[in-house]
Amino acid sequence: MVNTRRIVIENQRILINLLKKPLAFPLLLGFFVFLTWISLRLQHSSSSSSHPKSAQERSNPDLGILDGDDKVNLVRFSLASLSPVRKDDRGWLLDPVVLARDSRLKGGAASCLSIHVGEIRPGGLRGNHRHHTCNETFVIWGAKTKFRLENHKVEKGYAEVVIGEDEVAVAVSPSGTAHALVNVDPVRSTFFIGCQDSNMPNNSSTSDYKVWKDL
Ligand SMILES: *[C@@H]1O[C@H](CO)[C@@H](O)[C@H](O)[C@H]1NC(C)=O
Ligand SMILES: *[C@@H]1O[C@H](CO)[C@@H](O)[C@H](O)[C@H]1NC(C)=O
Ligand SMILES: *[C@@H]1O[C@H](CO)[C@@H](O)[C@H](O)[C@H]1NC(C)=O
Repeated sequence: MVNTRRIVIENQRILINLLKKPLAFPLLLGFFVFLTWISLRLQHSSSSSSHPKSAQERSNPDLGILDGDDKVNLVRFSLASLSPVRKDDRGWLLDPVVLARDSRLKGGAASCLSIHVGEIRPGGLRGNHRHHTCNETFVIWGAKTKFRLENHKVEKGYAEVVIGEDEVAVAVSPSGTAHALVNVDPVRSTFFIGCQDSNMPNNSSTSDYKVWKDL
């Protein structure tokens, strides 16, 4: 007891002596500048992960993809941050029809008369077709996934984006619009739900298949 108290007093004396020295002020100043730098760094990294990424960050020049989410009728949410799909610590939950409507995505399914739930393994492709008798709303998650949508306002006739493995995306494909999902992830599986507003027979008179030859 006595010993530790003496050590504490001794330490205080050393500190006070140190502060009296002419070097103490620049040292302290340096220390506070360092603290400020650390806190700014932390603030910056936390804000950059919770804010939506810019269109530039979302595009992937390595894959030849430079289009914006607006051109493929898509909204995405990062699972790492607070977002409309991450309500609490249990994980995410969403209603695709309501989310598409609230995100002002036009031309999606107004209700889900027919639903497809599926997996796409790495390198796999689904879609690459055009339905003429239904609007479709997608939810896509689980892996790095390329989403392509027919869009004649874009010079090449379509737009495409890559959804990250830590994102959930909701996209809409109005009736008569071709769409394709490609898993471009090396290991993870893509999962998706396709909600259609008519239970049309899936046949060649209501849909065009293998729309894009490069996929
Ligand atoms: C698709 O959406 C359009 C409006 O965006 C609507 O007129 C049409 O009834 C919807 N359903 C089908 C099956 O086309
Ligand atoms: C419809 O059938 C074709 C093959 O006949 C298939 O490639 C396509 O994935 C099917 N689409 C849906 C939404 O089931
Ligand atoms: C394909 O769908 C259309 C439209 O619903 C229907 O009239 C036609 O009989 C179907 N064809 C086949 C081969 O199932």
